[in-house]
Amino acid sequence: MRLTILGGGGFRVPLVHGALLADHAEGRVTRVVLHDVDAGRLRAITRVLAEQADGVPDAPEVTATTDLDEALRGADFVFSAIRVGGLEGRANDERVALAEGVLGQETVGAGGIAYGLRTVPVAVDIARRVARLAPHAWVINFTNPAGLVTEAMSRHLGDRVIGICDSPVGLGRRIARVLGARPREAWIDYVGLNHLGWVRGLRVDGRDELPRLLDDPALLGSFEEGRLFGADWLRSLGAIPNEYLHYYYFNREAVGAYQRAERTRGAFLHDQQARFYAGASDPGAALDLWERTRAEREATYMAENREAAGAGEREADDLSGGYEKVALALMRAIARDERTTLILNVRNRGTLSPLDGDAVIEVPCLVDANGAHPVSVDPLPGHATGLVCAVKAVEREVLAAAHSGSRATAVKAFALHPLVDSVNVARRLVDGYTAVHPGLAYLG
Ligand code: G6P
Ligand code: MN
Repeated sequence: MRLTILGGGGFRVPLVHGALLADHAEGRVTRVVLHDVDAGRLRAITRVLAEQADGVPDAPEVTATTDLDEALRGADFVFSAIRVGGLEGRANDERVALAEGVLGQETVGAGGIAYGLRTVPVAVDIARRVARLAPHAWVINFTNPAGLVTEAMSRHLGDRVIGICDSPVGLGRRIARVLGARPREAWIDYVGLNHLGWVRGLRVDGRDELPRLLDDPALLGSFEEGRLFGADWLRSLGAIPNEYLHYYYFNREAVGAYQRAERTRGAFLHDQQARFYAGASDPGAALDLWERTRAEREATYMAENREAAGAGEREADDLSGGYEKVALALMRAIARDERTTLILNVRNRGTLSPLDGDAVIEVPCLVDANGAHPVSVDPLPGHATGLVCAVKAVEREVLAAAHSGSRATAVKAFALHPLVDSVNVARRLVDGYTAVHPGLAYLG
């Protein structure tokens, strides 16, 4: 089995490789091809992987290339985990929006739109090449904004592209834990868009345990989202939102906290990773440096939000979201026809009736050798449907702008977003972003 990783020089690749090393079963991945546009980053990550594989007899063979077509040819699975514009691009996404007084964040609001506008053309090019060079491959998309990028790719690959995110599993795991349920035995009733979903129930043995959590202030105060959103608001919602909904429900506080922060998350990671990639050339020290850098990255994840909300730190044993586990579980279910249920980003196909069939949503899916099949879920309440439809409409404008190169359509995407409060702001955002991002030159 051959797995190609696009963005193969990326910082999270050793997480995926670590999960592959733990898989000794028949039909496991035997060959990994890393692709990246940056040969230096490829060298650093290849070194980390070599140190990780040290002493593992059946470790997959790892090769690296900067030639995309060569990387894709013969692939059974393609993991797409690219970051167009790098962390410098992310820092600019955040900074330009915050300077306008609106949320500057990797995937949500104005920052996420800018990131999407940069990424969609590249993702579409990859999808076209996969369709031509590896038409039977399954593409697992981690590239953010994951829902939007998966939808862009699905227009060329249909249901052979599946988007993943670690946040719904992490949320489900934390809720199951406070309720004393085993995550594997619980059915998590979750639905929405990527980074915009709600847990409406957690069923064990046919009984919904979520009301017990919502009725108990002590239990609600004992886990991250409980503290982040507050017991009163969660009871009002009757659901537990994905942590990214904090940017909607507490937008003013989040924007304020980000504006007061010494530097944005993207700027912090940019400096941190520059140190890692520079230091990883010391022989024998790459893995150790990677581990330390990763621990620091995870410990500071969304720290400003948690601080602003008085939510405290994330528990040490809950730091790693486990997206590599979702990816491996998905790949295994498809490759070995091991039926399982995972929360994934797939085409709607009638699951959420206010959206059309091609809209990519995040929903529990049954997975087998034929791919991911969304399960039917209860409809979302009006307030959630409103948000989901508004953000999907924005995503569609992003796709249209990327397709046509129309600046007016890009302005429309920003202006229609619920977290952008004026058409004039949207115009200035397009000016600001096109001035700093070479990847947006196509907007004229
Ligand atoms: C979570 C989300 C990802 C996102 C990441 C950002 O894992 O699910 O989609 O990219 O957080 O974390 P970072 O450490 O890069 O701020
Ligand atoms: Mn995510």
